[in-house]
Amino acid sequence: MSAIAPVMVSAPASRLATASPPATASDIPQPILRLIGVSKTFNGLTGTLEALQPVHLDVRAGEFVCLLGPSGCGKSTLLNLVAGLEAPTTGQVIANGKPVTGPGPDRALIFQDGALFPWLDVRGNVEFGLRQAGLSKHERRRIAQRWIDAVHLSGFERSFTHELSGGMRQRVAIARALAIDPDILLMDEPFGALDAMTRDLMHRELEGLWQTTRKTVLFVTHNVREAVALGDRVLVLAPRPGRIIAEFVIDLPRPRSLEDHGLVDQARRITAVLRESSAEGHQTFGQASGAPAFLPADALANK
Ligand SMILES: Nc1ncnc2c1ncn2[C@@H]1O[C@H](COP(=O)(O)OP(=O)(O)O)[C@@H](O)[C@H]1O
Ligand SMILES: [Mg+2]
Repeated sequence: MSAIAPVMVSAPASRLATASPPATASDIPQPILRLIGVSKTFNGLTGTLEALQPVHLDVRAGEFVCLLGPSGCGKSTLLNLVAGLEAPTTGQVIANGKPVTGPGPDRALIFQDGALFPWLDVRGNVEFGLRQAGLSKHERRRIAQRWIDAVHLSGFERSFTHELSGGMRQRVAIARALAIDPDILLMDEPFGALDAMTRDLMHRELEGLWQTTRKTVLFVTHNVREAVALGDRVLVLAPRPGRIIAEFVIDLPRPRSLEDHGLVDQARRITAVLRESSAEGHQTFGQASGAPAFLPADALANK
């Protein structure tokens, strides 16, 4: 039972909205990404699993949207549907006005472990997509160097991935993604394995890159404060079945610090929503299985 109504916190009037309203409907920019009733059910040996109930979502070009929720609520499934790695059971994903039928260079996916190629050095990794695109060696080198510099890895061009720290590996993954100039960056818990200080630094660097490139970002996390630190909007998901239960517009000034009062307040409100959905889940599922169906909401708050 999902009794939780969508919640809007802060002024919903977008900071991206134009000062005066557009004159005609055709002046209103189309969302760069649309999910229209997108759901996913997996069929396995033991039956079917409703990983994601129908999602309706519009994302504006240049927007930073965070998908937040505990393990198993369908965050990666949603991202994979947008990436074109999975096909929806119902509905349609539209990117740049075209239905998504598979992966494409307009959407780059970044994983928690970076998924770098261990047999290539930093430069080789960043050049990889450019090589696939058929660019000349000179062009590949020029573009790769630009992004290696942008993620502060100058001097490490010839290093192999096993020689890099976790934060440096994620920088390579970000440079590799940005080098192919996608419109949409899809990030699946990219900083989940990093220590708190490195993650804090990566937040600031990612925010800087986002502000200069104006890419559209869909960022998955189970960390409430991380979502509030980065997102223009935070969509809260709950599991079994996976669904969006609330939406928060985050209108806090940038750059944001994890210690800002406003950020902490906002995170507290979101944690309360997660806790409420968690309590519902325990009532609905906990007794049947005899095991907790959800992570405690406290585990989601970034302490
Ligand atoms: N390929 C798959 N086959 C069957 N079940 C899957 C598959 N991928 C994900 N699931 C299930 O769908 C649910 C949502 O998974 P996922 O999207 O990975 O959640 P999250 O990323 O939020 O942790 C989970 O119950 C998971 O076990
Ligand atoms: Mg996941």
